[in-house]
Amino acid sequence: MAAHDRLLVIDFGSQVTQLIARRLRELGVYAEVHPFQKVDADFLAAFAPKAVILSGGPASVTEPGSPRPPAALWRLGVPVLGICYGQQVMMADLGGSVEAGHHREFGRAFVEPAGGAAARDPFLDGLFETGREEVWMSHGDRVTRPAPGFSAIGMSPGAPFAILADPARRFYAVQFHPEVHHTPNGTRMLGNFVRLAGFRGDWTMGAYRAEAVAAIRAQVGETARVLCGLSGGVDSAVAAVLIHEAVGDRLTCVLVDHGLLRQGEAAEVVALFRDSYNIPLIHADEGPRFLAALAGVTDPEAKRKTIGRLFVEVFEAHARAAGGAEFLAQGTLYPDVIESVSFHGGPSVTIKSHHNVGGLPEKMGMKLLEPLRMLFKDEVRALGRELGLPEAFVRRHPFPGPGLAIRIPGEVTAEKLAILRAADAVYLDQIRRHGLYDAIWQAFAALLPVRTVGVMGDGRSYDWALALRAVTSVDGMTADSYPFDHAFLSETATRIVNEVRGINRVFYDVTSKPPGTIELE
Ligand code: XMP
Repeated sequence: MAAHDRLLVIDFGSQVTQLIARRLRELGVYAEVHPFQKVDADFLAAFAPKAVILSGGPASVTEPGSPRPPAALWRLGVPVLGICYGQQVMMADLGGSVEAGHHREFGRAFVEPAGGAAARDPFLDGLFETGREEVWMSHGDRVTRPAPGFSAIGMSPGAPFAILADPARRFYAVQFHPEVHHTPNGTRMLGNFVRLAGFRGDWTMGAYRAEAVAAIRAQVGETARVLCGLSGGVDSAVAAVLIHEAVGDRLTCVLVDHGLLRQGEAAEVVALFRDSYNIPLIHADEGPRFLAALAGVTDPEAKRKTIGRLFVEVFEAHARAAGGAEFLAQGTLYPDVIESVSFHGGPSVTIKSHHNVGGLPEKMGMKLLEPLRMLFKDEVRALGRELGLPEAFVRRHPFPGPGLAIRIPGEVTAEKLAILRAADAVYLDQIRRHGLYDAIWQAFAALLPVRTVGVMGDGRSYDWALALRAVTSVDGMTADSYPFDHAFLSETATRIVNEVRGINRVFYDVTSKPPGTIELE
């Protein structure tokens, strides 16, 4: 069992439950999210949380059969914080009343202190310094009578029970969402809650490093070997360095170079792993094979599937040639692992088939090793720094598994790849020179399957059109186009047309996601 304090977030299906865990992790508190269906008395006893947070959710406690935590929760003797639906659950279960929503309230609201206790309650430390707190409300139902023991310590015009407290039991309940950015002091409120719950802030990447290394050694044992596919991205790199620290040269990395990487990318990974870390690395230089397989393939899904299939085949061949291994390492992250609460259960549509080393472990009889599966992306970056990976590497923008192929709508050819690589390098150089790289989630160029007429010098040109894309995002699920100023865009377009042969026109993609996606295919 982990040495650090643990907080349990019970998920009732809010869209933003993950953010609760993220904010807590930022505060040095280890939190796990579990769906309400799974959390019964036995689960609570085994998890042994030091505090519990009940998330928001779409249900109404006024309806029969609405989701509830186990009654054992109230007897655990640990602090509990209910957020939105979580607040209503607390009131309904502990003897207060909740009314079904005629007062739907969405958006910004201001909370003021209420009651004499407000000034002294530790939940409010450092709050109300300017008199009131901006918060984000999103609820239909509302509390009409607090449960015995609770009193209001914060109120808003629309919500007399915006913050309820039972300090004796250390039970707190808020009607708004402290976990979202629209509640500017929300992290402070969560910080106050975990402090009054006695958390020591012992979740740091330095501590996790030692813990993870011990766990990898325990799982892999004294003799087994591990294979790790390197993609050039941060997750697989951090996983590899961590595993290398645990098992040394029993780790072999395989970089399947599908010829669809960016300029200089494969060489950079090889230099970093072989030279700086001394990690055994197979560089499988298979570009021509992928290009041959992609000849004539224009449909985006067909492209993704072709690359995915060949990737597995090539990885497997190189892995076998290297003598195989008992474990396959993957850079799976916590957001992929959190079981989501589903009320409807229907299958969701596939927008794009994502690329991973699907099916390989079973096929090769390997076990999975996923040392990052409890981490958020920011934590992986912090762990990367802790392990000494270069800052520029740790801060890299995400790059998709199918690489540049999905940035060339239509058929992928060697000529188009060369043009795109050169243009993308100029674009990223511009972004770095202007100090914009870290403000952007992801930036790249895409080569459009369109030739247009231009004039260069005294002559006519008939060359390809290039699209530039740059987005801001928190997790890649939604995104906004980055608002470059016009001077930057025109300077960049001029440089690209002058420096890259084959391009005579540049567009900037201003589509957000949704309705667009980040990649073009
Ligand atoms: P989309 O285009 O779906 O992309 O809005 C969201 C994020 O996912 C990345 N992406 C991928 N990453 N394998 C990956 O590892 C893939 O097949 C893949 N397709 C898209 C994309 O770059 C963006 O960060």
